[in-house]
Amino acid sequence: MDLGLDDAKVMILGASRGIGRMTAEIFAEEGANLAICARNLEGLEVAKKELLSVGNGSVFASTADLSDAESLRDFVEVGIQELGGLDILIHNATGVSGQDEEGWRGTFEVDVLGAVRAIEIAQPTLEKSENASITFIGSTASKQWFGRWSSYGPLKGAMRVLANELGQALGKRGIRVNALSPGATWFPGGSWDRTKEANPDFYKSVERSVPFGRLGHVDEIARSIVFLASPAASWINATHIVVDGGQGKFVD
Ligand SMILES: NC(=O)c1ccc[n+]([C@@H]2O[C@H](COP(=O)([O-])OP(=O)(O)OC[C@H]3O[C@@H](n4cnc5c(N)ncnc54)[C@H](OP(=O)(O)O)[C@@H]3O)[C@@H](O)[C@H]2O)c1
Repeated sequence: MDLGLDDAKVMILGASRGIGRMTAEIFAEEGANLAICARNLEGLEVAKKELLSVGNGSVFASTADLSDAESLRDFVEVGIQELGGLDILIHNATGVSGQDEEGWRGTFEVDVLGAVRAIEIAQPTLEKSENASITFIGSTASKQWFGRWSSYGPLKGAMRVLANELGQALGKRGIRVNALSPGATWFPGGSWDRTKEANPDFYKSVERSVPFGRLGHVDEIARSIVFLASPAASWINATHIVVDGGQGKFVD
């Protein structure tokens, strides 16, 4: 199947490691041009070098903090300039979650306001694309109890509702909007790698909760993100997709 991504202009908010980084790699393999950001320069530079070696497209990489409106604005504006337009926007990064006000503000700023602010800037350019899409990376923590309450699940839930509303409103302007929720996903140095080290019994219980007896891998999530965002998924709009290997015990 041709995903229709050759020469596509793709922006990923938070892509120096983990799910965002692997998503960037698959877009690059498909011939897309990339604009990626992260807060730390070092990881970003490594990612840029690796991504350039994967595909023939261009890679614009710049530091930005999505919790800071001005920093986010600069990145999105300059990224669109560097790409020469925009077809696909992926909002991947998440904020510091927690139970206290700081945690709620941190998650709200990056996850929800980050999405709203990026779309406000990107919408006029996306409207000019023949294949425009926006994808929010959510979490199955918005669907089921993970043993601890925090700002994370509720605000990932807000992103699912936002994707639905924007899919209706922006669909009229030719822009698809969806949310994709990964289940527990392991990668070296990621949050589940740290949990495996710090709390092996809990990690094993999570493995047992998945029918395949293991956590997801980043490429298993990233392939679904790339498909959902691509022109090949042209009839998927205003919805939410779970990619968790059956970890969640919900029906829909
Ligand atoms: N991994 C999982 O098991 C899992 C499960 C369900 C959902 N998810 C969701 O999937 C997404 C990616 O998760 P992950 O585990 O791959 O992520 P991660 O390890 O948290 O990495 C996220 C990426 O975003 C960047 N980033 C983080 N905060 C940022 C900010 N304020 N401004 C700009 N860039 C920022 C990070 O680089 P810097 O640190 O350098 O900024 C990194 O490149 C998140 O939305 C997460 O909630 C993950």
